[in-house]
Amino acid sequence: MAKTVSLISSPTHFLSSFTCTLFFIIVLCVLAMYTLFHHPTSSTSLFKITKTPLYFQDIFLSSSDNYTLSEYLRALTLHPHVTGTPSSLQTLDYVQTQFQDLGLKTHTVEFEALLSYPVHSSVSLHFNDGSVQNLVLTEPGQAGRVIDPYHAYSPSGSAFAKVVYGNYGREEDYSMLVRLGVKVKGCVVIVRRGEVSRGGVVRKAQENGAVGVFIYVDGDNFDGVERGTVMRGLGDPLTPGWTGVKGGEKLGFDDSEVLKRFPKIPSMPISFTNAEVILKSLDGVNLPFEWRDNLQFKFGSLGVGPTLVNFTYQEENKLAKVYNIFAVLRGWEEPDRYVLLGNHRDAWTYGAVDPNSGTAALLDIARRYALLMRSGWAPRRTIVLCSWDAEEFGMVGSTEWVEQNLVNLGSKAAVYLNVDCAVQGEGFFARATPQLDNLIIEVTKKASEIT
Ligand SMILES: *[C@@H]1O[C@H](CO)[C@@H](O)[C@H](O)[C@H]1NC(C)=O
Ligand SMILES: *[C@@H]1O[C@H](CO)[C@@H](O)[C@H](O)[C@H]1NC(C)=O
Repeated sequence: MAKTVSLISSPTHFLSSFTCTLFFIIVLCVLAMYTLFHHPTSSTSLFKITKTPLYFQDIFLSSSDNYTLSEYLRALTLHPHVTGTPSSLQTLDYVQTQFQDLGLKTHTVEFEALLSYPVHSSVSLHFNDGSVQNLVLTEPGQAGRVIDPYHAYSPSGSAFAKVVYGNYGREEDYSMLVRLGVKVKGCVVIVRRGEVSRGGVVRKAQENGAVGVFIYVDGDNFDGVERGTVMRGLGDPLTPGWTGVKGGEKLGFDDSEVLKRFPKIPSMPISFTNAEVILKSLDGVNLPFEWRDNLQFKFGSLGVGPTLVNFTYQEENKLAKVYNIFAVLRGWEEPDRYVLLGNHRDAWTYGAVDPNSGTAALLDIARRYALLMRSGWAPRRTIVLCSWDAEEFGMVGSTEWVEQNLVNLGSKAAVYLNVDCAVQGEGFFARATPQLDNLIIEVTKKASEIT
């Protein structure tokens, strides 16, 4: 979504964190201020009360209900719902039913895209003393319940090679390895997750001659594994720049335009616990001073080896159905100008934070608008609530829809607001293109008054 209509550059992390209350109030305020400013005034026949923007704003802000929000979140997170799986259809149905029950005009748009799923993976460590350890790659208690940890669009492949630690896997990290006389060629690189995208990390390792990559998150979640995509670019790889519909024109699986979007070496995410086992077994060159920050454990060397890793990964690429759902609230003054509020619905696992804390907020916003509409309000511009599919694979659902509606959106979309992880830990984070800076500052002030 970012490229065309988004005024907010990255839907993935537009808003994350904060306390529940404050976040919801802020998003609600942004929308409330955006849409309530002009409205058709109406009056009750009995008392002739003029319903001012403030009147509607008060209803909007005071109709918060924790119980409703927790119900939404509970229903959305009952099952893991990766795009293309049967349980993802339950969340589709749920969001659609909620919109419809509120009396909102709803429609679903279906696409078909090439998605990537794991079939098999194994990692065994061959230590210097001759012992061998098979790593458990799934989270404790979750094997078979959630999708196995993997990188979507990682190619199938195997590697039997020495391990080397590459810090964050950035250009400067490889320069450091060169300065230290460490040869990455032919090795499996293990890196911690940093500012570089997963795909960027894998490509950089590939350029440096690595034969496989493990990525872990340096932190205190020892057994958690962060799934993600390593595809370059956004949207269905078979329809770059145009929309992917069933029966429509598509590139072949083996087209060079398709293949260039995927790395050439296999990679996978591993837990911090597994990373620690590997890193502690390394010998060779001492860890440079600059790389010693944030590491939760003490280890002295970055390799190469002597530990060997036997890593095998097998993926399956297949065409899957991708469903976006929309609720449209027609504007009374400028119906042809759209204010879009979007959030993805698909999750790698249960998605309590990413994305369903956002979807719960989206549904509650819909509920409050429905409430306002029942008391005579209509938005000044048309509001489109968007629930995207297949975001985790590379913003597939939103990108295909934008490609389908490029001309229309180019002339009619006024603003796109995105929410993904609405509630997560502490702090408030928002990003926007400069046009919205003041709006965010204003509503933040308003929210802190309320709390
Ligand atoms: C709703 O949740 C907030 C934040 O946890 C809390 O402060 C507030 O008391 C709750 N309200 C109700 C009615 O439970
Ligand atoms: C590496 O792992 C694969 C898959 O488990 C296995 O078939 C192969 O024999 C292993 N290679 C070595 C050298 O242990």
